[in-house]
Order: sequence, then structure tokens, then C-alpha cells
Amino acid sequence: MERLKSEVKRRFLVSSESVRLFHGRGHCFPGLEDVLIDWFEPVVLITLYEKRDRLWLSELVDFLRTVLKGLKGVILQERFLKFSPSRILFGELPEEVDAIENGLKYRLLMNKAQNVGYFPDMALVRSVVRDQAPGKNVLNLFAYSCSFSVAAIAGNARQVVNLDMNRNALALGKLNHQINHLDLRKASFLRLELFRSFSRLKKLAPFDLIICDPPAEQGRSFCAEKHWSKLVTKLPALIQPGGELMACLSSPHLSPNDLQALFSNYCPQAQLLRTIRAGENFPEISSDKGLNVLHYQFD
Ligand SMILES: C[S@@+](CC[C@H](N)C(=O)[O-])C[C@H]1O[C@@H](n2cnc3c(N)ncnc32)[C@H](O)[C@@H]1O
Repeated sequence: MERLKSEVKRRFLVSSESVRLFHGRGHCFPGLEDVLIDWFEPVVLITLYEKRDRLWLSELVDFLRTVLKGLKGVILQERFLKFSPSRILFGELPEEVDAIENGLKYRLLMNKAQNVGYFPDMALVRSVVRDQAPGKNVLNLFAYSCSFSVAAIAGNARQVVNLDMNRNALALGKLNHQINHLDLRKASFLRLELFRSFSRLKKLAPFDLIICDPPAEQGRSFCAEKHWSKLVTKLPALIQPGGELMACLSSPHLSPNDLQALFSNYCPQAQLLRTIRAGENFPEISSDKGLNVLHYQFD
């Protein structure tokens, strides 16, 4: 617990926006692999992947109350239980809570869904997308709440096509553009199953930048081993010569080396520019684990 407390204090002090206060999932803190703590002012979200006893939780809540200035509520999400339910441990949950990142807002689904609508480990990738966006025609695959689209349009992208099969996620994505006062004429929202939609996407191509951020694994909709090879063979036809692809990988079923091998075999015209990781707020014991985003350019 002492290690956790010093991490939380340190990260809270240096951040003026939303921040991951503690990242145990990267196995850098023995005995705390099941714990994540996120600050979304004025609320803190504790996510547990294993059961913890009441004493441990009340010590943590007391600590958070003394350290986090402006704290109004502590929410606990228990991922090890069916449907990952959430409950309030302290205070109250404001009607609307937003993640704030680089001056942009992302509305959160606190207490409503397993995923809160925002993935903090993608912050550095969103910042790269925002920097690269000016004038670009962007395709955002597996768009979910369209955070990459928000970042790209804030960075003056010409147009962003968001594709996801989940209607509610896209509705949240649209809202995310609205709460940031972004021009919605620049964004489109396609509720489609990707692997049946390549011919439709071809009509909208070529794109200058494609972001491809599939789930690690999702029933029949996405299986890393099977579907990544499809993506690697199909995506080049949608990219402009000189265009770029962000291939986002966070799957225990496929390593970054496996994905690079797929590109070398099926897509030799793609040149790996760099690999982007989640950054120092998300320490990982192994560079293969956690987030690896392969940034490619196409000849
Ligand atoms: C990891 S989330 C994407 C996160 C998002 N890029 C972000 O940064 O917030 C995965 C998304 O993929 C969508 N999805 C999974 N399989 C799909 C498929 N075959 N076609 C279209 N969307 C799919 C899910 O609905 C979900 O919203």
C-alpha cells in the first residue's frame, strides 16, 4: 500500500488534467497487479481485477480523501464480478463527468458500462494524431467513442470517417465532438461491421491517415490471430501513397513482433516509422505487453 500511496501522490501533484494515478496491471508493483486508479476531476475511479477486503479499501479511500484536492466521489468498479458492476465508496457521482486531456473533453460512462468510454493509455497516440492531422482525410476504425476523431478534428483534419458496429458508442462519439464545439460536418459516423464493409470504404478512399484500434478480443467480431492478418492485407488499398497507419495492439494473443511479421510478409511497402507506447504513467514490466502502436508509412 505504501508504494501505491507514493505513486498516487506523485502523479496527482504533477498533473493538471485527468491522469492514471496508479497502474498496477503492468506488473511493476508486486501484489498490486489487480489495481488501477484514475483521476477524472472531481471523481476518482478505482478498478479492481481481484477481490480486496473492506479494510484495504477503506484505508485507500481515507488516503485518497486526504490527498486529492477537490475530490467529490470515489467509485469502485469490480471487474472480477459478472458485468463489472460499479458502486460509490465515498461522496457522490456528479451527473456528468468528463476526462480532460490536452484541453479536450471526453464524456465518461461512469457507473454505466464496463468500459467508461475513454482509454487513458491512448493519450500519447491521440496527441500524435492531433499533430499529424492538419488537412488530412482520416479513417478511424473501431472508433468506439471517437476519441481519435475528436483529436484529429481539433488538430484541423479535413475529414474523419468513424466506423464502429456499436450504435451507442458512435452516439457517444458524436457527443464528444459536440462538447468540444468541433465542426460536426467534418465527421461521419458509420455503424458497420468492418469485415463486411471494405468495398464501401474503398469508395471513400484514399485516406491519408488510418487509425486501427481493434479490441484485444471480442467474441466473433474480433479475433486477434485471425483478423489482424485480414486488416494487414486489406488496409493498404485504402491508403494514399505516402499515407500513414497507426496499428494499435494490446492483445495477449498477438505480440508486436507477430504483427510486424504480418506487415513484412503481406505488406512490404509499409515502412515502420516508430512504435508508440503508453508512456510513463503506464509502467509495464515487459515491452511486449500493454499498448504497442506501430506507426507505418506506405510507399
Ligand atoms: C478497443 S475499442 C476501440 C477504442 C477506441 N479506438 C478509442 O480510442 O476509444 C473497440 C471497438 O471495436 C468495435 N468493434 C469490434 N469488432 C468490430 C467489427 N468487426 N466491426 C466494427 N467494429 C468493431 C467495438 O464495438 C468497440 O467499440
